[in-house]
Amino acid sequence: MLDFKKEIAEAIAKSLELNSEELYSYIEVPKDSNNGDYAFPCFKLAKELRKSPMMIADEIKEKIVLDNNIIEKIDVVSGYLNFFVNKRKIAEVVIDEMNKNGEYGKSEIGKDKNIVIDYSAPNIAKPFHIGHLRSTVIGAALYKIYKYLGYNTTSVNHLGDYGTQFGKMIEGYTMWKDEYNLEKDPINQMMDIYVRINNLCKKDEEVLERCRNNFKKLEDGDPYCVELWQKFRDLSLKEFEKIYDLLDCNFDSWNGEAFYSDKMQEIIDILEQTGKLQESQGAQIIDLEDKGINTPIIIKKSNDSTTYATRDLAAIMYRARTYDYDKALYVTSYEQVLHFKQVFAAAELLGLDEKYIKGLEHVSFGMVLLPTGKMSTREGTVIRLEDLLNESIERAQKIIEDKNPNLENKEEVAKKVGVGAVIFNDLANNRIKDEIFDWDTILNFQGETGPYIQYTYVRTKSIIEKAEINFDNIKGEIDFSKISTDKLQDADSQNILKLIYNFEDILIQVTEKNEPSILSRYLIDVAKAYSAFYNANKVIVDEEDIKNARIFLTYATGKVIETGAGLLGIQMPDKM
Ligand code: ARG
Repeated sequence: MLDFKKEIAEAIAKSLELNSEELYSYIEVPKDSNNGDYAFPCFKLAKELRKSPMMIADEIKEKIVLDNNIIEKIDVVSGYLNFFVNKRKIAEVVIDEMNKNGEYGKSEIGKDKNIVIDYSAPNIAKPFHIGHLRSTVIGAALYKIYKYLGYNTTSVNHLGDYGTQFGKMIEGYTMWKDEYNLEKDPINQMMDIYVRINNLCKKDEEVLERCRNNFKKLEDGDPYCVELWQKFRDLSLKEFEKIYDLLDCNFDSWNGEAFYSDKMQEIIDILEQTGKLQESQGAQIIDLEDKGINTPIIIKKSNDSTTYATRDLAAIMYRARTYDYDKALYVTSYEQVLHFKQVFAAAELLGLDEKYIKGLEHVSFGMVLLPTGKMSTREGTVIRLEDLLNESIERAQKIIEDKNPNLENKEEVAKKVGVGAVIFNDLANNRIKDEIFDWDTILNFQGETGPYIQYTYVRTKSIIEKAEINFDNIKGEIDFSKISTDKLQDADSQNILKLIYNFEDILIQVTEKNEPSILSRYLIDVAKAYSAFYNANKVIVDEEDIKNARIFLTYATGKVIETGAGLLGIQMPDKM
């Protein structure tokens, strides 16, 4: 696809006899389109060229040679050069891209690069809560987007399936198994056993000792303990699966914490050899003060058991060897900022290639707040995710029932709208921001929501069907090479075309910042641009040229929305 930025960067580079790659990264897309489609800020060169930005701008403007058919106008405004792309060209480029087979914006830029994304990671025998939902939604969106750009991407569900609590679960289950029916309501039943055995342990030292012993036996591979552990894990996964099904989410690897139980000794040995491992109150720790972290990382507790952090170190080693990653991302709430700082700092001691250390990144996100405040396990305000998704689907169904009682496949549409609304809400803003969860906002069809995007998509589809053209086969019915670019030069059409043109760039920006909200905001912009166009223009008009151009625009909008929302995990209904 023709890259306007590249054309501009090369032309500027020629005029100044500089390197175009560096200049490319300086080019901005102005917020206000009155300042052009692309802007080049000259102050970034002022130092190097020892000239004022204004002088540089004037010099470039004077010397630059750019094809009129690509850039039709250049303005100089206080140290900036503003470039206006040729209106016909942008239409041509978008038509051309849409006409190619395959999906719009799909790319190969990630070829030969390996990305590992660790997300979701709920804990066995505990509820899947709304924080895990956010991790799942953000991680799944990043996964799909990296893949779409051609990266070799691996998703890992680093399940919390290890730790002393399993010794307790085994003890409780052994004592009371006749009172429970785990198959019926696994998570609640297991939670119940866990709370009960915990209370007993507080009162009875002997039981506590048995629990510790169970965990030790589990680690040593005792068949009875392993069998129970497997049972708890399988039952939990079966429950989690329901949520993953609703979200249409899967993983390449289900290696949880337990997977690393036989891989930690190597880590401990390496750390010992560095001489950094020290004893503190019976525990083995590493002081990270010299790396600017005040809290030491605990490698082994005083009772000799390993920690969550040790397992993460083993996981880094494993992922470096197995996936040879360029980036390893960890999607959790910002509550784990310190944990990952410590782990990444300690990983520097493992003797791994520099690239693996550089590639580590904690993709942290804010809390989900109910209008009544923070949700937390301890305060008992946890909402079970399955309930939440089902409630969203029910609410969507009610709205549909009100608005469009005769709709076909109401259930399926309600599912897409209900789930889409929750997903979009999770991705709507900068991930680090706390999110307020409010039903009326997330399901508002007119707001900046998932349903609004779906609604816009459905509108594009129904317009094209009204024109008696098959949405999925419009290329067979309209000859794209004959679409009149003259009829796509008005401001509303140009606005949409430019947005569509930017789709790939938006996806690249998402990966640069690991920020899916860039794509969510973009989809809202596309939907709004289409609404503005639609409110000002009739699509199905008598004049064939105009009609085809507008149908094309409608189709392209629908395609980009469908693809973009799909990358966020939001599916489009055909009607709603
Ligand atoms: N199970 C953890 C939790 O629920 C999240 C695990 C994140 N991934 C990791 N490699 N530490 O908080």
